[in-house]
Amino acid sequence: MSNFERHIEDYLKTLRPCTISEAMAYALDGGKRFRPRIIFAILEGMDINESKGYDAALALELIQTYSLIHDDLPAMDNDDMRRGKPSLHKAYREDIAILTGDQLLTDSFRVVSASKEYDDRCKVNIIKALSSFAGMDGMIYGQLLDVTADDKHIDKDSLFEIQDNKTGGLFKISCLIPMYIKGEENEDYYIRLGSMIGQIFQNQDDLFDMIKTEQEMGKNRSDVKNGKGTALSIYSIDELKALIDEEFEELDKYLDQASFDTSRLKELLYKLKTR
Ligand code: IPE
Ligand code: IPE
Ligand code: MG
Ligand code: MG
Ligand code: MG
Repeated sequence: MSNFERHIEDYLKTLRPCTISEAMAYALDGGKRFRPRIIFAILEGMDINESKGYDAALALELIQTYSLIHDDLPAMDNDDMRRGKPSLHKAYREDIAILTGDQLLTDSFRVVSASKEYDDRCKVNIIKALSSFAGMDGMIYGQLLDVTADDKHIDKDSLFEIQDNKTGGLFKISCLIPMYIKGEENEDYYIRLGSMIGQIFQNQDDLFDMIKTEQEMGKNRSDVKNGKGTALSIYSIDELKALIDEEFEELDKYLDQASFDTSRLKELLYKLKTR
């Protein structure tokens, strides 16, 4: 088990024992932790030990997990598999799943506030980024666009807006967190970096809906079935693969302007590219 997984386990042990904390442990288990790994890769490139990022990465992973629980609910994508097992509302109940999502979100702010790793200025910056980019400047706004987008009326601009918010939002937070921990002031650069990674990530996710099995993905492929507007409403499989390759190249060039050593991040992005 990695040190960050141990950090999550230790956190879970501190929670009041009840159905919600049990359900939180169930839902947190099995994630790829890609957003935390971006935080750690950038921190290491700044010569800061990854453990400095654990509390902020935990907060972000709590929000990521809540977003997936709510995304799977019958009123949203209505998916009964997540992270390789029954979705939370299937394993528990719908009411418990809603409350567990609410608690994961709420507790993310407590985790950052209570951290011993960051000074007050850094905490405020992290909490502000979490609430903006997981909220109306990101994930929630993107999910709003997503639930109202159908596959007939989507164009490239609206697809970008959906992806850049629903998925880009949390990736922007991943890139901003190390910047705040370091005390750098270069938000535009890191927000754009998160946006580029999020774009690639969601394009791949849409592509995998077509070319991977539910077992490989550990989740359902409901967007096509639900008539959702995704990258595949606009591009063929080959076009989408070519677009993702182009986006990786652009990202590689963008990283040449970075003020940190990008080798760890590039290794991680290579894993993303070949996943
Ligand atoms: C799923 O994200 C939601 C998308 C933005 C596609 P991940 O593929 O990172 O899911 P987990 O966290 O590993 O379960
Ligand atoms: C991203 O969209 C989900 C969130 C922002 C929570 P999807 O609906 O495509 O994610 P998956 O495929 O269910 O993981
Ligand atoms: Mg969805
Ligand atoms: Mg979904
Ligand atoms: Mg998807």
